[in-house]
Amino acid sequence: MLLTSNQFKGRDLLTLADFSGEEINTILKAASDIKEKYKKNIPTPYLQGKTLAMIFQKSSTRTRVSFEVGMYQLGGQALFLSSKDIQLGRGETIADTARVLSRFVDGIMIRTFAQEEVEELAEYADIPVINGLTDLTHPCQVLADLMTVKEHKGKLAGLKLAYVGDGNNVAHSLLLGGSKVGMHVAVASPEKYKPSEKIVSLAREACLKSGGRVEILTDPVEAVTGADVVVTDVWASMGQEDEAEQRMKVFAPYQVNSELAAHAKPDYIFLHCLPAHRGEEVTAEIIDGPHSVVWDEAENRLHAQKAVMALLMG
Ligand code: CP
Ligand code: NVA
Repeated sequence: MLLTSNQFKGRDLLTLADFSGEEINTILKAASDIKEKYKKNIPTPYLQGKTLAMIFQKSSTRTRVSFEVGMYQLGGQALFLSSKDIQLGRGETIADTARVLSRFVDGIMIRTFAQEEVEELAEYADIPVINGLTDLTHPCQVLADLMTVKEHKGKLAGLKLAYVGDGNNVAHSLLLGGSKVGMHVAVASPEKYKPSEKIVSLAREACLKSGGRVEILTDPVEAVTGADVVVTDVWASMGQEDEAEQRMKVFAPYQVNSELAAHAKPDYIFLHCLPAHRGEEVTAEIIDGPHSVVWDEAENRLHAQKAVMALLMG
């Protein structure tokens, strides 16, 4: 039923700000349906004969494998295009790349640095463009995160999600997605590494409609107190390797460890988009412990993205 909906057909997924809370819930519902069918061996050939081009300007394990396997499971195929190998890496413009790919394939996923590059690709492509991570946002990750929270907690609205660490792409998408679906999103970061003000104000605006709440803090204990969901991410993202050593010192008080997690609800769940650095942003005790649902979260990248592709490209 959902997958014949025209509401999503032909649209891009550039950021979760472009989708209403209701639409995000529809995507999550489609994702659970697709997951259930997959587990029951019921085929879902929604994209038979279709091709997804996947442009990567940064490394990836989960995004690459989940999109590629996802297309295969939907009856289509995916092309891995490293920017090192295609002409984009030699200076062909994003606009021309978009125009040419639009003549060959049915959708483009791109992982790159500037959010503006994804927007430019979408402007010149006449097929759906999906953001597979930029420096600013990581919407596909957060769809999988919300799906995982829903599976474990049975709901989203009203839950408190605490994000502790760098105000980065993952934090931004959690703010955008969480606020749309009515969650209380509390972010604790060092003063100089707070989330973008523009993103925070979009999230606050979404809360007016959804009944959600956004708090931007510096104290990790305040953020985690009473949380249903505790999330962190790396302290130095891709492209910030030169700052890694300096960041390590600033972020040390933001490690998610047993002491910090003791302030969360007794039945809290722990999320991390991965890859993780045990002993840095999270201790092994937490990520490998009983509250951690990071493997379900990683698996749900596959199901959430299959739903996105089927809805946008179907
Ligand atoms: N979480 C995530 O996007 O992982 P990859 O960098 O491996 O794709
Ligand atoms: N914030 C991290 C997420 C990796 C999936 C990065 O951008 O490197």
